[in-house]
This record gives sequence, C-alpha cells and structure tokens, in this order.
Amino acid sequence: MFDLGTTIAGVRLDPCIMNASGPLCTTFAELTDLARSAAGAVVTKSMTLAPRQGNPEPRYADLPQGSINAMGLPNLGVDAYCEFSELLRALGKPVIASVAAVEPGELVPAIARAASAAFDLIEANLSCPNLPGHPIIAYDVDALARLLREARAVCHRPLGVKLPPYFDRVHQERVAALLRETGIDFITVINSVPNALVIDLEHERPLIHPKGGFGGLGGAFVKPIALANVRAFYELLDGAIPIIGVGGVYTGRDIAEFLLAGASAVQVGTAYRQEGPAIFARLAQELASVLAEKRCAAAADLVGRLQPLPAAAETLPA
Ligand code: DHB
Repeated sequence: MFDLGTTIAGVRLDPCIMNASGPLCTTFAELTDLARSAAGAVVTKSMTLAPRQGNPEPRYADLPQGSINAMGLPNLGVDAYCEFSELLRALGKPVIASVAAVEPGELVPAIARAASAAFDLIEANLSCPNLPGHPIIAYDVDALARLLREARAVCHRPLGVKLPPYFDRVHQERVAALLRETGIDFITVINSVPNALVIDLEHERPLIHPKGGFGGLGGAFVKPIALANVRAFYELLDGAIPIIGVGGVYTGRDIAEFLLAGASAVQVGTAYRQEGPAIFARLAQELASVLAEKRCAAAADLVGRLQPLPAAAETLPA
C-alpha cells in the first residue's frame, strides 16, 4: 500500500531501511539472518585485507541513551566476505560491502578485491575511530581526496563513502566538493561520534577497555548530530548524491526525520544490536504509519522536505 523503497545508484532497496555496518553482521550466520529479515539490504561488517580479532574486551557497552564501542574492526577478512557474497545475494536482497583499512595503503586493494565479488554496492568506511595510533582518515581532507580518487579508479561497482560526523560547515563544504569531483555514488552519514568517554562512577573506571575507555558513541545520543550532517550534505550536494542516514534510529518517526532532513534510506546500528533482526519489520510498519498520518504514498515523498521555521512575529507593545 505504501512505497517504502528507494533506489541508490541503480540498486533498489525496499524498504529503505537496513542494518548499519558494525553490530551483528560479521559472521555468515549473522548475515544470513539479516538476509532473511525484513531489511531492505544486508550490510557487512567493515572488512579489511586480512582477518582481525579486534581490540581486547570489554569493547562495547549499552547505555540508556545509546552505546559506546571500541571494537577495533574485528572481521573475517575481505576474501571470506567475497566468498559469502553470491550465497547472500541468492537470498534475494542487495548486499553492501563495507570496506575499511588499518593502514591507508590497504584500503584500495581491499576495495578492488570486494569489487571483484558479487556485492551490489561498496561502502568505503573512512571514519573508523577505534584504531589506536591511526587517525580518522576522513578528518584529513587531502588524504581523503587521494584515497577517493584511487578507490574510484579501481572500483567499477557503485562506490559510497561512510563519513564521520563533521562539526563545522567549512569541513562539510570541502568534503561535499570532493565527493562531487571524485564521482562518489552515495554517502552514509554518520559513523559513531568518536572518542567519547563514559565513566562508571561506582568503580571509578571507564566502561570499555581499549584506548583508556575512549570509544565511538551511537544511538539516541547522536541523532541530532546525524540529522545535522544529513541536512548539511543534502543542501551542499543539491540532492545530487543520495544519502543514507544513520545515527539514533529506533522508530519509524526517527526514520521520517532522517527522510525530511534529506536521507533517501537509513541504517540502524545500536537499536539493531539491542533488538535483533526483528526490528526491521517493526520499523517498516512504523514508517508506513507515519506516511499514513502525513497522507503520503511513498517514503520518497518526505525526502528533503524539511521546512524553515518562520521567525516569530514581533510582539512589541502597541
Ligand atoms: C569500528 C567502529 C566504527 O565506528 C567503524 O566505523 C568501524 C569499525 C570498530 O571499532 O570495529
């Protein structure tokens, strides 16, 4: 009855709701569960050239307003995911490869390898905050430019970029110009808000072990930051590059806010980890209810529709 789908770089995602790379998408069993859920696509854990164990535990904690993690890219390595790709696609929905690197020089070979497999879209993760001693690549616009050019040259599949939150319009302007110039097909915003610290007052310790407790924040904490980045890139890109919004989606109403801000689709991280694959059917149903309330036939009708708030009328005494 309602069209909950979208098309990104020629790939139909229906509904426009999928998991975020990170939780519960590392093993073949987890990816199969996603493929059998009501999600519109399956997104893999960020894969690196070689398999990784990741950082020491405890490296994830649930919080009342979200989550904190410093996982350190635990994954099975790009070759394993390439082997899974045909089998996962055979389950009937698009499969998105998230590709990351520890050393910047490892990113382009990993993307080239992933592009040789059956993935529908490639999402280059240039914003992992949890590798001790390694900066977030996407905070260095020159390094980002080099990597995007090299990645674009080896990737014949649709290529997107997962960006970190930016807190300054000038940074967003520079990155938006670069995305246009390098022919990037979609962006995913935002990755976790990096290097947050949550303290356990009773024990006088951080909640997670790696990096002295510093980790990426997700969930309800980050939704306003995510919405702001979606909106800024929507304005700066004039809708020319589709945006996948991520950060604090728990309900259909949250999804509608991301669509209004300018996202064409959303990903779900913390809430998916907390609720499991059944969350996608609930979210699709809730999004349909919002569309019914707003008398819209399609999720696409909401994309970018945020209105300016009129200035309050002046109320000077007569
Ligand atoms: C990890 C965390 C991230 O936010 C990310 O983008 C990639 C990897 C991690 O620590 O595994």
